[in-house]
Amino acid sequence: MNEATAIDVERVICRLDDIEVSGARGFTIGTGDWPLRGFVVRVNSEVRGFINHCPHAGHPLNLRPHRFLTADSALIVCSSHGALFEKATGLCIAGPCAGHYLRAVPLKVDSGFVMLADSVDALALAAATA
Ligand code: FES
Repeated sequence: MNEATAIDVERVICRLDDIEVSGARGFTIGTGDWPLRGFVVRVNSEVRGFINHCPHAGHPLNLRPHRFLTADSALIVCSSHGALFEKATGLCIAGPCAGHYLRAVPLKVDSGFVMLADSVDALALAAATA
C-alpha cells in the first residue's frame, strides 16, 4: 500500500488541468502587501512559471485576469507596451526590453497540482520582485 504524499497547499498554484493546453493562468501566493504574483503557461506537455513583472517598466504583464498570451497563444505579451516573450524561456524577442528575460519561477507538478518547486522561498522571491 502506498502512503499518501502530503501536499503543501500554501505552495499550490493551481491544478494542472486548470491551465488550457495553450493557455496561461495567473497566481498569487502569500498575503499582505507583497505576495508573490506570477503566472504559469503551458509549453507542450510542460509548464513554465514567471514573475508577473515586465522587465521594461515593471508593470504587471496582464490587464485582465489570466490574459498573458497573444491571440494565437504563441507568445507571452505585455499589455502595457507590447513586449513579446518566448513561453519556454521568458526571453523578450520584440519590444522595448528585447533581449531581457522574465524572471522564472521554478515549478514542480505533484499529484496533478502545479506547485512552487521545493527550492523556491516564496517570501524571499516576493520581496525581491516587489
Ligand atoms: S511595461 Fe511591459 S512592455 Fe512596457
